[in-house]
Amino acid sequence: MSIYSKFIYPFLLERAMTKPSLARIRKELLSNVKGDILEIGFGTGLNLKYYPSHIKEITVIDINDELGKKAQSRINKSSIKVNYKKISADKLPFNNNSFDTIISTFTFCSILDIEKALAELHRVLKPDGKVYFLEHGKSNDKRICFLQNLINPIFKKASCSLNRDIEAIIKNQKYEIIKMNKFYQDDAAKIVGFLYMGLCKKVD
Ligand SMILES: C[S@@+](CC[C@H](N)C(=O)[O-])C[C@H]1O[C@@H](n2cnc3c(N)ncnc32)[C@H](O)[C@@H]1O
Repeated sequence: MSIYSKFIYPFLLERAMTKPSLARIRKELLSNVKGDILEIGFGTGLNLKYYPSHIKEITVIDINDELGKKAQSRINKSSIKVNYKKISADKLPFNNNSFDTIISTFTFCSILDIEKALAELHRVLKPDGKVYFLEHGKSNDKRICFLQNLINPIFKKASCSLNRDIEAIIKNQKYEIIKMNKFYQDDAAKIVGFLYMGLCKKVD
């Protein structure tokens, strides 16, 4: 394991993901979640403290051991029972129609085969379930988009695509967006801070 994966990536990720503006919007995103919950790309567990108090148990997945170790201290301190699984979102070991709620924050940018993952989420989501998402992606400003395309190869080396059109990706995968806001994160550069926040449901 390289020094980058063991120390630098977790450190940089935690710094970027704990900006003050993100605390507020994580809390807002999670304020109405309910039922059987699956969170994908759990990372270092930053969403854990924003779940509403009625949530007693969640299932979470991630593929990164080092981030999982950092998450463990947050899991230990939480009153929520966390069922942690080291698996990829594009191959889930869950039955069809298992979850009422699926949550993804800043994860659609890093899943290699996002279409396959969204198909898996569709499969395990209950018919009346919802996917809550908070993602960064392709800006709606052509100049920013140009810069995103330019710099994307560098970000891809750190497993992050800057320029994914999150709205189009969701709509192309048998989901209907119920509500979505697109806006720039207050405390981030525009190339990394164009956010898509909302929820969608599955359609046939
Ligand atoms: C930018 S981090 C976001 C972490 C966390 N969701 C947050 O909001 O702080 C992206 C996360 O997605 C995870 N990830 C990448 N590919 C994945 C996959 N195929 N299945 C599950 N998790 C994945 C990474 O390991 C990482 O923890």
